[in-house]
Amino acid sequence: MCGIIGYIGDRKASEVLINGLSHLEYRGYDSAGIALRYNDKFEIYKAQGKLINLINVIKPHQDVCLASNIGIGHIRWATHGLPTEINAHPHTCNCKSLVLVHNGIIENYQELKEELLKKGSKFLSQTDTEVAAHLIAYEYDKTKDLHLAMQNAVKKIKGAFAFCAMHKNEKDKIVIAKRNAPLVIGVGEGENFVASDIPAIIEYTKKAIYLADNQTGIVTKDSIKIYDEEGNLINNKIEHLPFEAIAISKMGYKHFMLKEIHEQGDVVRNILSSKLEGAKHQVVFDEFKLSSEKIKKITRIQIIACGTSLHAGMVGKYIIEELARIPVDVEASSEYIYRNTIADENTLVIGISQSGETADTITAIKQAKEKGSHIVIITNRADSTMARLADSLLPVSAGIEVSVAATKSYMAQLISLYLLAFYLTEQKGIVEYDSIIQNLKQELIELPNKIEMLLENTENIKNIAKKYSSYKDFIFIARGINYPSALEGALKLKEISYINATGYGAGELKHGPIAMLDENMPVLAILNTGIVYDKVLSNCEEARARQAKLIGVTNYIAQKDKDLFDDLVLIPQISDLMSPALNIVVLQLLAYYIAEYLGKDVDQPRNLAKSVTVE
Ligand code: AGP
Repeated sequence: MCGIIGYIGDRKASEVLINGLSHLEYRGYDSAGIALRYNDKFEIYKAQGKLINLINVIKPHQDVCLASNIGIGHIRWATHGLPTEINAHPHTCNCKSLVLVHNGIIENYQELKEELLKKGSKFLSQTDTEVAAHLIAYEYDKTKDLHLAMQNAVKKIKGAFAFCAMHKNEKDKIVIAKRNAPLVIGVGEGENFVASDIPAIIEYTKKAIYLADNQTGIVTKDSIKIYDEEGNLINNKIEHLPFEAIAISKMGYKHFMLKEIHEQGDVVRNILSSKLEGAKHQVVFDEFKLSSEKIKKITRIQIIACGTSLHAGMVGKYIIEELARIPVDVEASSEYIYRNTIADENTLVIGISQSGETADTITAIKQAKEKGSHIVIITNRADSTMARLADSLLPVSAGIEVSVAATKSYMAQLISLYLLAFYLTEQKGIVEYDSIIQNLKQELIELPNKIEMLLENTENIKNIAKKYSSYKDFIFIARGINYPSALEGALKLKEISYINATGYGAGELKHGPIAMLDENMPVLAILNTGIVYDKVLSNCEEARARQAKLIGVTNYIAQKDKDLFDDLVLIPQISDLMSPALNIVVLQLLAYYIAEYLGKDVDQPRNLAKSVTVE
């Protein structure tokens, strides 16, 4: 949510800023803006909507763009006030001597605004950020030092922020501050960068410094100074960024989502390469910091996550309970917080997050940490806030996921949870599951090829997508370990096509949702051979009896049952326990092709943000 970029060096700042913002688009936004230092003042350009609108606004100002080498930029996801040009960042103060971009939410902005109004501030927008701009400017008038002004201002601010500011009297300088919102400094030679995430800077440098909460900094073209809350100069280490610029290119695919769906076989291979040598080997989980003695004492596991990560957690519950025999609760982070949850030192709390920056999950993790629970974080971003809160960090390393709709990160989370379930079972010494686990490991090893078999032949799924793209509503049903697959399939479809899709446990259909069934409500059923197969088949009969169109996703269908379905997608042979990892690929593709057929903005669906940094 929101993205920040700052540049100081010899390049054309406008180009670096626009390019950087284009690589932050995945975060979700509804307006954009930049401020360029030019002739000892600031030129500010803003536009509502997509980045292309900002590019068109800037076009006639080539004189400024060619000359300016310092600037800050922003994409805004509206929190306070409509997504209008006036509310877009950068914001400034009465005399336009200061410009500011901000990611986060200032909780006490109303009281600060009232105080500043009394002191003569005039506000043009409805944003909390403009209040911060006036506050820093007010502090600057007292101190005549932008960094000091920033330090004084952040002491008065409650809430979350990543700030990037410039002042017209401090020519070659960008001043930054961070609390509970991501901010990274890209270290160059004779130039430096500031950004909310590394895709914005990876083209220019592979060296970065991460700011910790409550740190502030001064960035010039040749130096970077970072200060702690007390104002002491400190030495944050320079880290090497493990990403290639290629990771943020579409590599010939029409959308990042399609590219990322196609990367899933390799994602699985990559995780297995360091964790599982073969089906007869034990899982290697050096990152897991609890001894087997402590693992044996775990009385319960709580999994907390949001959205797609929550669905991965639901599959995780099923496997961990099945194998490691530890009770698992799975809860949306936003429901876990603000109640007196029961957790103690024998509770293992697992936070799952692609971004590692989801505000609800961060709050939930902090809450669990206070109760003394061991915190495991499963994330795609080992450089994230959540990763830093982990007692045991299990990075899934799916590579940068650009499309807002999570696909390969979900796959990576599933695989990590399978491995974790095996690991816990092995560490607990439950030998009666050895052969089951060995079979599952073999299936995991074979999974990448099966995923790729599915991806090689997508014609059937494309045809189904075309046939059903005009429907306004959809129901997804499944039971057992694929119930979360139904939820995730429905989430994918609604996120990118805006079709009203809902996932249900198939057994729940007759307890209410069946009232909605008729020829206008297609039902997609996931049936995998195993304990619930016949039950789901009966639920399909019930749907069919209400004239609902039926799509089956299955690894097996008897000839006599084929006619029940209007359309069928057959997946390769797979056990029920492992099937969520294959079924989901079909559902991702179906959602993708429906959205693509409808001409939707697949990678950046409306109203959504990749990284949800507000509660
Ligand atoms: C996934 O397609 C969604 N965009 C969304 O539900 C996402 O999974 C959720 O916001 C949680 O994000 P996280 O995994 O980064 O914590």
